[in-house]
Amino acid sequence: MKFFLDTANLEDIKKYAAWGIVDGVTTNPSLIAKEGVSLEKRIKEIAKVVDGPISSEVISTKASGMIKEGREYAKWHKNIHVKLPMTPDGLIACKTLTEEGIKTNVTLIFSLGQALMAAKAGATLMSPFVGRLDDISDDGMALIADIVQAYDNYGFETEVLVASVRHPRHVMDAALIGADICTMPPKIFDQLATHPLTDSGIKKFLEDYKNSKK
Ligand code: G3P
Repeated sequence: MKFFLDTANLEDIKKYAAWGIVDGVTTNPSLIAKEGVSLEKRIKEIAKVVDGPISSEVISTKASGMIKEGREYAKWHKNIHVKLPMTPDGLIACKTLTEEGIKTNVTLIFSLGQALMAAKAGATLMSPFVGRLDDISDDGMALIADIVQAYDNYGFETEVLVASVRHPRHVMDAALIGADICTMPPKIFDQLATHPLTDSGIKKFLEDYKNSKK
């Protein structure tokens, strides 16, 4: 299972990349807007830190504009995955860019039907948003299970990238289902790596060692 960071914050990306377990980075226009830098500058900075897929999202809504943006992004670095919205125009752009050898990530997926369309268009990655489904009392992880099952049924090569992750349980459930990738906000990396019993265990070991007869 691959772990991606879902942030455009360079300090966070450097911090967690140093742990040696960051396989890629996803960004979106909202995350870039928080950073106050241009998309191109930030994506190129990220590419120097993480050697893995980096998603850079288009802002056009028409296929022709998405294709133009995608071709430009692809020149920035070999690891760029052009993030396209799951719309009919996004599908046209996905198919065209895929035929040109450009990697894609079809995003804002909320149904199995959309997941099938993204795979048919040849998406490299596809991003179902589990947290936003849970937010409206739907079941994000049930969608992941359905997508993994359907993709397995037909041998689709599109990778399932679980996005809009809100808590560690989403990551653990995605792993049990067999999703390919989870993209997570930085705090989830901390939550996955820590446990109160680990902390108290270390404290006790160190106290016992200090108090032992040498
Ligand atoms: O990058 C897409 C996705 O992970 C967004 O998550 O928290 O805005 O629903 P969120």
